[in-house]
This record gives sequence, structure tokens and C-alpha cells, in this order.
Amino acid sequence: MLEQKILGIKTEALERIRSVKDDAGLFEFEKKYLGRKSELTGILKGLKDLSQEDRKKIGELANAVKMEISEALEGKKRELKNAGFDFESERIDVTIPSKANGYGHPHILSIVQREIEDIFTAMGFEIADGPEIEQEFYNFDALNVAKDHPARDMQDTFWLKPEIQNPKSKIQNKSENILLRTHTSPVQVRYMEKHKPPFKIIVPGRAFRNEATDATHEHTLHQFEALVVGDGVNVGNFKYIAETFFTKFFGKKLEIRLRPSYFPFVEPGFEFDISCTVCGGRGCPSCKHTGWLEVGGAGMVNQNVFVSAGYKRNAYQGFAWGFGLERLAMMKYKIDDIRLIESGDLRFIRQF
Ligand code: PHE
Repeated sequence: MLEQKILGIKTEALERIRSVKDDAGLFEFEKKYLGRKSELTGILKGLKDLSQEDRKKIGELANAVKMEISEALEGKKRELKNAGFDFESERIDVTIPSKANGYGHPHILSIVQREIEDIFTAMGFEIADGPEIEQEFYNFDALNVAKDHPARDMQDTFWLKPEIQNPKSKIQNKSENILLRTHTSPVQVRYMEKHKPPFKIIVPGRAFRNEATDATHEHTLHQFEALVVGDGVNVGNFKYIAETFFTKFFGKKLEIRLRPSYFPFVEPGFEFDISCTVCGGRGCPSCKHTGWLEVGGAGMVNQNVFVSAGYKRNAYQGFAWGFGLERLAMMKYKIDDIRLIESGDLRFIRQF
């Protein structure tokens, strides 16, 4: 009797599932044949009232039928799901060659910076750095720049408003002005505060100038500072190191020329030139027929700077020099407009 009934449920369910067409139909079907109140579930619940022998027989049959109906339901679910899927339009042709996935590479400034770092570290220099947001003290005072020096002017320096200064900063004193460093020279003092001579360092880094941009000036530039301090360091040492550096960097024998100049943090101070990398010194349009290219500033460290850093006056000698990374990159790679360098224009960047 019960067996007939179970087989009847099975026949009916397997027949019924064929006409199910949507989610609502699936739901109804599941409720009717497998749900808590379904006939089949009722039979399974009533097994406990049967004799041991019937319980085994009916139980096995009811469970097998339940399984079969579940499978039919799952099959129908898959069928309906696939019916809503347009295989043809979703077809992927795995034989089509893929689009070339271009590789990136370092930016020209990174390339040049690494070249410079390699040359200096091979000569025993260490690489140091310091903050781009700087205190007026390190950028100017400690470097012996007079309080009324025009370089501190609104024209050249990006001063930061007190309200955007970090409230957690130790520099709470309002009179301590904060700025974007105008050169990498403040790192000289920061480094010397923590290190005793002798040492040789280079400081690659960004600097900022509040000035109009043109083909040779940018408000954001990269500088390289070099500082060598010890006993008996002299201008000859500077000239030798500078000549060695530029000769390696440009891959040809170059000469250095010093011209007297003034920077408050050096005494004596120079501007230095290298023999023209294009004509070798004979004179050409690149060097305006002088045979020389202006490269940067340099000089023997002013004793006042040593004192700012906590050294005894006249205990050491040292030289410092600074040059612009962009200018060197432009000379080496023959770029005629500095603004291209940070333009982000891939047509430019990909050339290097
Ligand atoms: N800091 C100077 C500048 O930015 C360059 C310089 C560095 C000059 C070290 C002398 C010594 O122009």
C-alpha cells in the first residue's frame, strides 16, 4: 500500500517537473514534493510507527525516491539557468592572439639618479636624505643665510601656512616657519648634527622654487648635493672628484672650471662649469660659443655652517656642491625643455 503510494508520488513528480518553466514553478515543485509538509516527508516521519521490517523496506524506498526527485529538481534548475544564457554571444575564441601588454620602465629622472648614485657610491660616498617640508632654520638660518636675504622672499620660497603644519609636530613654536625646501643643502646640517667627520655623502632629492616656469626653470626640481668633510679637505679634492664624476657620467673626458661666486654657506664659493659636452670646448651653439656649460654651485663649507651643526669652529674643512638633476639629464639626453620631464607624457617618457 505504502509502497504503491511512494511510487505514485515518484511518477507524478517526475512527470510534473517536465512542465516547470520558471523560478516560481521550481519553488512550488520543491514545496509540494520535498517540503516539510509534503506527502513524502510525512511518510518518512511516520516510519517510526511501522514494524521493524516495514520500516527498513519503506524507509529505503522513500529515501531513494526523495533522492531521485531532488536530482530531477536540480537538473531542472540547471536547465532553466542555461536556457537564459546565450552561449553563442559569450563564446571566447582562445585562438585570437592577445593584445601586447607593454612593459613599463624607470622614468628618465630615476635612470639618471641611479647612474649618479652608482658613480658616487663607487667612490665611497654614502647616500643621505632629509625632509622636503623643512624648517626655516635648516633651509636658511643654519646655512648662514641672512635674515633679510632676498632668497627668503615670497618670490623664491613656498612658505606653508601655520594651519597646515602638523599639529603633532614637535615644532610648536609659531615663530618656527615651515616651507618647502628650496634646495637640498639643509640636509648638510641635518646630517652633520648626527654624524662626525670624516664622511662623504650625496643627497639626491626634490626642491621647490616659487618662480615662473619656462624651458629651463621648473617650480619642482631635483638636486644633488655632495658634502665631503674631514681633515685637510681642499678645493683640489673637489675639483678632482667633480672631474671624475662628470667624466664617468658623460662617458668622455671633461674638464671643470671654477668661477668665483657667492653662496652664504660656502667660503670661498664658486659656480662651476664643465667643458661643453657637445663640442668638447671648441665652441658651438649649445655652449653659446664659450666652450663651457654651467652646471652648479660649490665651495668650501663656511665655518658658520659647521657651528650650526654643533662642530667646533675650524675643527674641520669640507666642500659642498649642488647641481640640478634635470639639467644634467637634459645635457646627457639632449632634451631642450625641462617641462617635458615631469609632463607625464608617455611619448616623451618612452624614449629613454
Ligand atoms: N644650494 C645651492 C643652490 O641650490 C647650490 C650649492 C650647494 C652651492 C652647495 C654651494 C654649495 O643653488
